[in-house]
Amino acid sequence: MTDQTYPPAADIVKNAHIDIATYEKMYEASVSDPDTFWGDEARKRLDWIEPFTKVKDTNFTLGEVSIKWFEDGVLNVAHNCIDRHLATRGDQTAIIFEPDDPETPAQHITYNELHEKVSRMANVLLAQGVMRGDRVIIYLPMIPEAAYAMLACARIGAIHSVVFAGFSPDALANRINDCQAKVVITADTAPRGGKRTALKSNTDAALLHCSDKVRCLVVKHTGDQTTWIEDRDVDVKAMMEQVAPDCPVRPMNAEDPLFILYTSGSTGKPKGVVHSSGGYLLYASITQELTFDYHDGDVFWCGADVGWVTGHTYIIYGPLANGATTLMFEGVPTYPDASRFWQVIDKHKVNQFYTAPTAIRALMGAGTSFVEGHDLSSLKVLGTVGEPINPEAWNWYNDNIGKGKLPIVDTWWQTETGGHMITPLPGATPTKPGSATKPFFGVQPVVLEPTSGEEIHETKTEGVLAIKDSWPGQMRTVYGDHERFEKTYFSDYKGYYFAGDGCRRDEDGYYWITGRVDDVINVSGHRMGTAEVESALVAHSKVAEAAVVGYPHDVKGQGIYCYVTLMNGEEPSDDLKKELRNWVRTEIGPIASPDLIQWAPGLPKTRSGKIMRRILRKIAENDYGALGDTSTLADPSVVDDLIENRMNK
Ligand code: WTA
Repeated sequence: MTDQTYPPAADIVKNAHIDIATYEKMYEASVSDPDTFWGDEARKRLDWIEPFTKVKDTNFTLGEVSIKWFEDGVLNVAHNCIDRHLATRGDQTAIIFEPDDPETPAQHITYNELHEKVSRMANVLLAQGVMRGDRVIIYLPMIPEAAYAMLACARIGAIHSVVFAGFSPDALANRINDCQAKVVITADTAPRGGKRTALKSNTDAALLHCSDKVRCLVVKHTGDQTTWIEDRDVDVKAMMEQVAPDCPVRPMNAEDPLFILYTSGSTGKPKGVVHSSGGYLLYASITQELTFDYHDGDVFWCGADVGWVTGHTYIIYGPLANGATTLMFEGVPTYPDASRFWQVIDKHKVNQFYTAPTAIRALMGAGTSFVEGHDLSSLKVLGTVGEPINPEAWNWYNDNIGKGKLPIVDTWWQTETGGHMITPLPGATPTKPGSATKPFFGVQPVVLEPTSGEEIHETKTEGVLAIKDSWPGQMRTVYGDHERFEKTYFSDYKGYYFAGDGCRRDEDGYYWITGRVDDVINVSGHRMGTAEVESALVAHSKVAEAAVVGYPHDVKGQGIYCYVTLMNGEEPSDDLKKELRNWVRTEIGPIASPDLIQWAPGLPKTRSGKIMRRILRKIAENDYGALGDTSTLADPSVVDDLIENRMNK
């Protein structure tokens, strides 16, 4: 089978930063001499208060894992994203804020205004006693204050941890406690898709489970009524008016943490992924510019939420480090209707647009009539992220949004990697629908034989995806648990960073991500640990046991399939299914809502009591003809019952 290949159009190649020859030359230089390549980029792209003398100091050996870049360099991230631009682009729009309701006017925030807002927010944090290294939880809607809060932390050297506004009070409390945050910044309510989430009351509920020293800073965004606890709650906007409009930046070491972002893994509680100041910002800057072929003056729109890494790197840090105009969108693709994205692109003359395959599939399902009548001629590059894109969605995006002329960058990366790892570059890489194509500069992907861990050198192959050497945007540790960091990423395959994904490499050396090989599922581009959903389910008093797997879902990519064994004497019913669904929503958040629940009188287990997830996955995928060996099961008959009563027929 030959895959359809789309070479970049001649006019794109002509204007692009990088063409194919440059890519090959630079890639070779970046991996053969990373110190020179990254040292030059770091000096070119960032302002340093104290220059670094050492570029790379990294070790992937289990027991000694240590990742440091530019370790004796001193800089400030907020200075790099704001202050250094003021002389040349103070009046340029830094952030375009497009509210949930299209009737509410958009806001254009200039770099000068951003500087003032961030400084004021920083002074508010200082007034609350937030110091260098303290943790600040940000639980906000997609509003400019979220950007101010992140950059204010960076300005004073505090470490932010943004919690997606769709997470429940329990999930919020776990994160506040795990990083022992001093302050939570939230808003009264969050409008999204015409509905409102009560963020402040969620925060109130979360704080019942946290130290009573945690302060609560509230952005009065909608003006909705909330409870107010004197001595704990602070009106951020009012305070911002009172403090000074200026706040000096704090010189930070390149290796000082910039932020923690919690993400799901195959086991246990979500991990606090720690990113650095210098290496991360450099990687955000270079990938935002080169992957999207961003040029000065372009309007850049990453449609993710700042609650995820994509929002961190490609709404805030990458674009602002590059002096870009970045668009922040509070709403959803389908409100008031499925034309909203195209309307926003037309309205703000967006040049680069970045979204997730799940959104493309949802909009594809709504039909092309929603695209018609919107002028999309400003667009130059389209991107996708979060999950493999099926060729049908790729072609729809290409035909209807790109009008067959625009490069599509399918970017493979992770919370842990800080920025793009495998991706086409618009003027350089011929694309193939469904392939993330080739590695970014400095990234050395390898395909390993899953059981032996041997690197496979043949070009055309399949196996697990790992990375051979460090890159500046790599996560540095799991917050408070370096051992877990080593165990999760460096122990299964010695000497490599193991990404958790499987892949195939074709005869042209193109990478095709085949999905997670661990117990992580990807629901609408959101990472979900099946163990998290299971522990939420078994926390319900009527549930004895639960096993959760993913199954193919037309729009979401994967859906959440739950096998539930009830306590003795409990009767299965549709009402109980509803109750369990709501239960998981309150324990974790709506994104973890089970799609299918099957009552399981028993789960397939080995004689040593281990649940055979492989079998459960096959049944959920409706592929039970390929169950494989079931002879090691303690009671093979449970499988027949599960097949008989499967939900995904
Ligand atoms: C998946 C999101 C295929 C993958 C930036 C990865 C992808 C996980 C792609 C990370 C892509 C992300 N093609 N799969 N272009 N991009 N993934 O941490 O399984 O939320 O391991 O980071 O998403 O999800 P995370």
